[in-house]
Amino acid sequence: MAGKSFAAEYVQKVGGDIIKSRPFQAVEDQKHHLRSTVGSHSLRVAQLCAFFCDCLSKAGVETEKEDLVKAALCHDLGMRGRYTKRYSSGRDIIKNHPLNSSDEAEKLLGELTEMQREAIEKHMWPLCADRRIRHKETALITIADKLCAIADPLLAVKSNK
Ligand SMILES: [Fe+2]
Ligand SMILES: [Fe+2]
Repeated sequence: MAGKSFAAEYVQKVGGDIIKSRPFQAVEDQKHHLRSTVGSHSLRVAQLCAFFCDCLSKAGVETEKEDLVKAALCHDLGMRGRYTKRYSSGRDIIKNHPLNSSDEAEKLLGELTEMQREAIEKHMWPLCADRRIRHKETALITIADKLCAIADPLLAVKSNK
């Protein structure tokens, strides 16, 4: 664990079971954002969410950090099958992979909190049918997802090793 950030350690601690799960392993090595994978991208998004929560906590704003990190690890599980005709177009992927991720996450975690469902289903904000956001954690995951999408091609594939 030497050299890992606090956020990376936290993600492994609360999300270890998700990372080891069959649904996560099924997409872990799937190509994503040019030179990255769904697995490494999801780990980065979860780590950035944890970091944001820590920063907000220092500013006196509390968040549902553990639930958000778990949601972040699951937010792209619906990307499974992207290259095997699950989706008919780029537009279809944008619209439906967050909803399919939410279904996968619910199966994996047993149930989702209202915040987790919103965070996963609206992580592509503003590219979602209903742009209203009720939970601050949803704003955090949308920002983390976009920052990671920019950084993913520039970073090593495996951020959890
Ligand atoms: Fe996504
Ligand atoms: Fe993502």
